[in-house]
Amino acid sequence: MAIQRTFSILKPDATERNITGAINALIEKAGLRIVAQKRIHMTRGQAETFYAVHKERPFFGELVDFMISGPVVVQVLEGENAIAKYRDVMGATDPSKAADGTIRKAHAKSIGENSVHGSDAPETAAIEIAQFFAGNEIVG
Ligand code: TYD
Repeated sequence: MAIQRTFSILKPDATERNITGAINALIEKAGLRIVAQKRIHMTRGQAETFYAVHKERPFFGELVDFMISGPVVVQVLEGENAIAKYRDVMGATDPSKAADGTIRKAHAKSIGENSVHGSDAPETAAIEIAQFFAGNEIVG
């Protein structure tokens, strides 16, 4: 399996509780490398663009409000099979269904405030990385 990159967000519930380091430890323990990382406060426009695929869903407004409710940490993670591997490390969207040892099982507060985002496919990973990082900000 080739080395891949995926896009990650440590969401406002994680920055609010000061647990970004604890989450990064789980990421690194899984063998993923953080090759880019910055703390930002998303604008409403950025959050709406990022989650545009969900704009018809009933939770869209709440999701956008949550994502701009505080700072986030955006990241690029690199490793073998990074996209699927990070989805495994994150755990199910709903923390009550997440497996033991996953980030969401350990830290997520609810299905909405679930601590982390990870890309779901190579095409979305490329689009999401390009929304937040210039090429020279990623150092592998
Ligand atoms: P989704 O892409 O389905 O999940 P994941 O983050 O695991 O890829 O949904 C995106 C985000 O939307 C999810 O992390 C939290 C929010 N969301 C809700 O608030 N309620 C819901 O019922 C769902 C499915 C998602």
